[in-house]
Amino acid sequence: MSSLQEMQQTFARYGQEHVFRFIGELPENEQAELLENCREIDLEEINKLIQTHLQKEEDASLSADDLEPAPSIRVPENGGDEEAWEKARADGEALLRGGKVACFTVAGGQGTRLGYDGPKGTYPVTPVSKKTLFQVFAEKIQAASQRYETRLPWFIMTSDLNHEETEKFFAENHFFGLDRNDVFFFRQGRMPAVDEKGKLLLAEKNALALSPDGHGGSFKALARNGALAEMEKRGIEILSYFQVDNPLVAVIDPAFIGFHQQTGSEMSSRMIPKRSPEEKVGNFCRKDGKIQVVEYSDMPEELAQKTDTGGNLVFTAGSIAIHLIDRDFANRMANSGDLPFHQAHKKVPYVDENGAKVEPSEPNAFKFEKFIFDALPLAQNPLILETRREEEFSPVKNATGVDSAESCRRDQVAQFLRWLSAVGVELPAATKEEDFSLEISPLFATNEREFRERWERLDPKPKIQNGLYIS
Ligand code: UTP
Repeated sequence: MSSLQEMQQTFARYGQEHVFRFIGELPENEQAELLENCREIDLEEINKLIQTHLQKEEDASLSADDLEPAPSIRVPENGGDEEAWEKARADGEALLRGGKVACFTVAGGQGTRLGYDGPKGTYPVTPVSKKTLFQVFAEKIQAASQRYETRLPWFIMTSDLNHEETEKFFAENHFFGLDRNDVFFFRQGRMPAVDEKGKLLLAEKNALALSPDGHGGSFKALARNGALAEMEKRGIEILSYFQVDNPLVAVIDPAFIGFHQQTGSEMSSRMIPKRSPEEKVGNFCRKDGKIQVVEYSDMPEELAQKTDTGGNLVFTAGSIAIHLIDRDFANRMANSGDLPFHQAHKKVPYVDENGAKVEPSEPNAFKFEKFIFDALPLAQNPLILETRREEEFSPVKNATGVDSAESCRRDQVAQFLRWLSAVGVELPAATKEEDFSLEISPLFATNEREFRERWERLDPKPKIQNGLYIS
C-alpha cells in the first residue's frame, strides 16, 4: 500500500477522510505537500481535543472558593525590602557576568489585532527614530552584554508564517550590530483548525488549515530545534523570556535573575498591579497550593471585583508575560509536561466541499493553542516579582486605542521624560503636549539608573526639545 493510501485509511479511522477530497485533481507534488501536512499532525491528540473541548466550556471547574491570590515580592516603593532588591541585583549581575543567561523572544504569533503586514518584530515603534521592535530588543541586548562584559545569546521563536521574513530582516539589518553567531531563529509547531463539527479544515486543496500552536509550544520547539542543546553547550542556565510586542521590557533584569536564583525558582514571572478589575491581563492566583495564571475571561467575577478593607483589589497581580525559565525546567517540560490546549473560536478561511474558497465573516472554526504560563503549576518554587508598569509594560497589540502603537509611543515618551526629570532636568511646557516626541536610545541607557550614570557624564547636555534623540 502506498503511503498516501495508508494515510487516507488512518484519517478515515478518525472521521477525517474528507481532507483527501481533492487528491485526484492534484499533481504529484501537491499530493506530496498534503501528505506532508498530514504527517505533521497528531490525529490522536486532535481527536481528544475535539472530544473534550468542543462539547464543553473551558475551565468550567474554576470556582471562587478554589482560588486565592498568589504571593509576590513587591517593589520597594510598595513595601518591598530595598536591601533584598540590592542583594538580588548583585547576585543577578554575577550570573550575567558568568554567561549563565540568554534572551528568548516568542515571535511566532499572527498579530491579527494589529493588522500589520509582516512579522510583528519588524513594526516601527520608537517615537523619533522609528526603530522596529526587533531593533529595540537587539540594542537592549547589546547594551547589557557590554555592561556585563558577556555574550548574551538571543533565541527567537518564529512560526511558518514569518520565519523566512524574520531571518531576512535581521540579515538585511546586519543583526543590528549583534554577533550573528549569537542569534538563533527556530520555528514553533503548528496545529490544525477544525470546524464546529470537529472536521479538519483545508486552507487549500493541497493544504490543511494550520496555525502556530501558541507560545506554550515553545518548550517542545526549543528542544526539537536544538536550542536547548545549544544553551547547554554554552553553559546557559536561565532564559529571559519576553514577547515581541513590548518595547519597554527589560530584556535582562539582574534583580529578577537574582531573586529567581535565590528562591530556587524554576520559572519566575513579573507582575503589575492591575489598573481595574476589568483589565485584560491574566491573574496570578493560587489553587490547591499551586501558582497559576487565570485568564481574565475565566476569572470568577466576584473575585475579580473583590477588595480589601482599604479598597484595594485582592486579586491585583496581573501577568505581563515576562518570565525567567530554567533550562533544565524547559527540558523537562519539552519531554514530559504536556501543557493543556486552549481553544479559540476564530474566522478561518477554508476550501469548501465544492472546492470554492470561503472567507468567513463570522467565527467558523476552532484553533488550539498552548500557553507558556500553564507551566507555572509544574515548576518548583515559582516566584512572582512586581515591576513598575510605566517602566516595563506597554505592548503593541491593537491598531488603535488601548495597547496600540500610539499608546506605546506616549508611554515611551513619558518614560524618557521621567528619567530626565529624575536627574533634575527642567522640562519645557511643550513636553505636556500630545504630539511631543523625544527618544533615548537603549545604547545610551535602558533604565533610569543607567540613564543617571550616563547623563552625569554627558557634556554638553542637549536642549530638551521636540524630536530630540539621545544616543
Ligand atoms: P498574542 O497573544 O498577542 O497573539 O501573542 P498574536 O498572535 O501575536 O496576536 P493576535 O492575538 O493575533 O492579535 C503574545 C506573544 O506570543 C507570541 C506572539 O508573537 C507574541 O510575542 N506567540 C503567540 C507565539 O510566539 N506563538 C503563538 O502561537 C502565539
